[in-house]
Amino acid sequence: MDDNDDLKDLIRTIPDHPKPGILFRDISTLMLEGDAFASTIDRLADLLDNGKPDLIAGIEARGFVFASALAYKLGCGVLMLRKSGKLPGTIVSIEYALEYGTDMLEMHDDACGPGAKVVLVDDLIATGGTALAAVELLRGRGALIDQALFVIDLPELGGADRLRDLDVTSHALLS
Ligand code: PRP
Ligand code: HPA
Repeated sequence: MDDNDDLKDLIRTIPDHPKPGILFRDISTLMLEGDAFASTIDRLADLLDNGKPDLIAGIEARGFVFASALAYKLGCGVLMLRKSGKLPGTIVSIEYALEYGTDMLEMHDDACGPGAKVVLVDDLIATGGTALAAVELLRGRGALIDQALFVIDLPELGGADRLRDLDVTSHALLS
């Protein structure tokens, strides 16, 4: 039995959300279980390649949940990559394609200094469009980012392979 089967069982699949034909992996059911949530964060921490980074970058909205818990465990800061119009300061932004539409990611232009070691965290990687945009945005500000962590990978959608093309290793607990 896979070590992560206990976590996998807590993720439900909802057909036709948010659009017909999409099989939506719903992580909210795992998040409701305290022990499983804590275990998810511990296992993400175990997947770090190079120890503690300077910052964990989390992607709105579900990515924030995992990024902030992991940053707390590691004792590092959290950098928010937000959807458009939410950040109050001077921002840099990037538009990207989703499995179901397009969206925009933004960050404060002074959120990380050049050379900051950043690990990207999100709940799920599907096509990789969001993660690729996040890496591009962060690298545009000088961040050093060579690792991304996800709770769920949908490998048939090719996202992790697209990250590898950017020399970013990606690890997911579940696929
Ligand atoms: C989901 C998920 C990832 C992204 C993955 O977020 O949390 O961020 O899609 O898809 P991709 O690999 O094809 O880009 P969503 O945009 O649904 O936002 P939410 O967390 O605010 O619900
Ligand atoms: N679940 C959650 N978020 C997603 C999914 C999914 O199946 N596909 C793309 N983003």
